[in-house]
Amino acid sequence: MGPGLVARGRYLGRLKLRPLPPQLAERYLLEWHPRLLALEPQRFPPLTSQALFENDLPLEVEIGAGSGEYTCSLAAADPAANFLAIEISNRAAQRAAWLAAEAELPNMKVLRADFKLLGPKLPEAGWRRVYLHFPDPQFKPADAKRILFTAEFLDAMAHSLPPGGELSVVSDQPAFFLQMLELAEGDARFTKTHPERYLEGFEPTVKSRFQHVWERKGRTPCQFVLKRV
Ligand SMILES: C[S@@+](CC[C@H](N)C(=O)[O-])C[C@H]1O[C@@H](n2cnc3c(N)ncnc32)[C@H](O)[C@@H]1O
Repeated sequence: MGPGLVARGRYLGRLKLRPLPPQLAERYLLEWHPRLLALEPQRFPPLTSQALFENDLPLEVEIGAGSGEYTCSLAAADPAANFLAIEISNRAAQRAAWLAAEAELPNMKVLRADFKLLGPKLPEAGWRRVYLHFPDPQFKPADAKRILFTAEFLDAMAHSLPPGGELSVVSDQPAFFLQMLELAEGDARFTKTHPERYLEGFEPTVKSRFQHVWERKGRTPCQFVLKRV
């Protein structure tokens, strides 16, 4: 693991590190070091389709993408859009980039970076859909600074989603899920895309490694989907 980046998540320790060969890394993996990002953000491109994929297809983003199964499945199913998997852990980002490379997906890239440092690179109204699935919850007070779904996160979503753009949030942790839901419900910049307060269960065509692990332990995930007004 490179200096300054910390492996997070409740299951990443079991992933083997398998670095990509340079020619595949060049195509599928961007690695943005936190210190450089904080000190010299102008050295990095904006997170747009044009800058990352050299086209103007709509861009969808999974934040905290883990080993990338879900983003890859979306990219494979929708060649008319681009997909960016943002992941802080080296092991997980390398695994996600391998998946994209093995599936030869032209419309997917993995960005190894801390989402909390990407503020200056977020495009205005530039993302069609964002996925925050199974974000790490707070187990102890020290975890608080790692929580992704905060008021600042909603500011970032309000900035980067155009009117009608969507944010999907899924969690298997009931108390944590309700905290996120309450924060979202207090923000007038978003409405829900569904009449139910939230949706029980989450049944995508391809489930992530993480979702399989926790469903085998008997947890049912819940989801809410917000739309930028
Ligand atoms: C529990 S996993 C869920 C992975 C994936 N979304 C899924 O559905 O399987 C949470 C992921 O978020 C990543 N993560 C945590 N904080 C992050 C941050 N600040 N920026 C980017 N990724 C982060 C962790 O490394 C971990 O891979």
